[in-house]
Amino acid sequence: MSTPIPFVSGAQPGTGHLDEFNATPLEFMHRAYEECGEICEFDLGGLRTILLVGPEAHEAFFRTPDEQLSAAQAYQMMVPVFGEGIQYGAPPEIERQQLKMQIKGLKHDRMVNYAEVIEQESEAFIDNWSESGEFDIYEAFTSLTLKTSTHCLLGSEFRYQLTDEFAELYHDLEDGLAPSSISDPYQDAERFRRRDRARERLEELITERVHQRRKSGDWQHDMLQVYMDSTYKDGRHLTDHEITGMVIWFMFAGHHTSSNTTAWTLLEIARNPRYKERLFAEVDALFDGSEPLTLRGLREIPLLDGFIREALRLHPPLNAITRRVMSDWHYKDYVVEAGKNVMVCPHISHKLPEHFENPEQFDPERPAPDNLFAEIPFGGGHHKCIGNAFAILQVKAILSTLLHHYDFELTQPPESYGEIMPALILRPTDPCVLRYRRRGKRD
Ligand code: HEM
Repeated sequence: MSTPIPFVSGAQPGTGHLDEFNATPLEFMHRAYEECGEICEFDLGGLRTILLVGPEAHEAFFRTPDEQLSAAQAYQMMVPVFGEGIQYGAPPEIERQQLKMQIKGLKHDRMVNYAEVIEQESEAFIDNWSESGEFDIYEAFTSLTLKTSTHCLLGSEFRYQLTDEFAELYHDLEDGLAPSSISDPYQDAERFRRRDRARERLEELITERVHQRRKSGDWQHDMLQVYMDSTYKDGRHLTDHEITGMVIWFMFAGHHTSSNTTAWTLLEIARNPRYKERLFAEVDALFDGSEPLTLRGLREIPLLDGFIREALRLHPPLNAITRRVMSDWHYKDYVVEAGKNVMVCPHISHKLPEHFENPEQFDPERPAPDNLFAEIPFGGGHHKCIGNAFAILQVKAILSTLLHHYDFELTQPPESYGEIMPALILRPTDPCVLRYRRRGKRD
């Protein structure tokens, strides 16, 4: 006999917990955990969802094959954004080959090139900063990482012709990921029509770039080149539609996740000033030779690494990692029936006192937890993030450049910098303003 899974209180007739989840997803999941413990069930407008908390449950979740716990079925709302035939809109065999192509674009030789691109963009970002001033870190890093991502993905010509149109199209695509898209991403609504128009126009822009490059015979070190050169096992090249989808997929996976991690890390640096002198010494050592930052250099910044890791522990960007149960799934004495979703939430698990001493305290020198599945900002198992090294490289390259030139301070009381999760990605609340001051020039 299986043990019944506790059902979270507060379900409304017809919609269950959907309104509460859509309005305040993090608070809702924390409430559910506090009420029920390591496993609980809730109702998202008819879609029953099981929340699992703790390393043991994570391990079971991440290690179960896709045939039983399907990521593709859980993330169908991404299909109209990326396009049919791409990632979860493609058969698993094609999806695996596309993922390999993405991984190819993250090999060492390309990463060296990306590190230089990101450093250039970061220098340009502070180029017209004065001796001191204030800036909103959420907005600033969203815009900077859009530039670094497009530069690494699509090359310098595209990046420098980056128009407002591109930003608007990208915004329309993002807007197509409203919570309501989870239940029906094809419903007849203006925001979904805008999403589809944006996808079409983006394909025109990217295809134009591909054709120009083919005609000129120019070879570049960016992801676009990887997509243009890659072939499936049967020798077929990606179509223009697929190339566009691969670009959008990568942009979506890496943009807000990286920009928010940059923002949180800098915020924590400003909030924990006692580490600053050591941090400055670390980053200054990287700039000794006035050469571009190398990957090796970027690897050797232990305290900044600790800040990023701890920022990812306390403020993990992705907190609704989900799978669809394809056939009844057994965990301990519980049985989760086919048709339901299962979900894990790093924001809850990263604060379990049995795995993290004084979990609310920010400690960049905190040792790694004993259990690999206790700390999961990049997920785990066969869907573990393939972009984690690129993301860390990006955050380090941006922050080391900024910290080499400027010091950063809070402009508001430390506790007033909050967190929200509007479109299922955790971000700082508005406004999130820091003061910068050129180093060595103190009042
Ligand atoms: C701090 C930044 C990032 C965080 C916190 C993050 C987090 C995650 C998480 C939690 C997953 C697993 C999702 C799941 O199991 O359902 C994932 C998967 C993935 N991430 Fe990231 N990510 C980041 C940056 C990036 C970047 C920069 C890229 C691309 C360059 C990227 C590409 C991907 C891809 C392609 C997958 C899917 C892998 C698969 O399905 O096998 N991510 N990421």
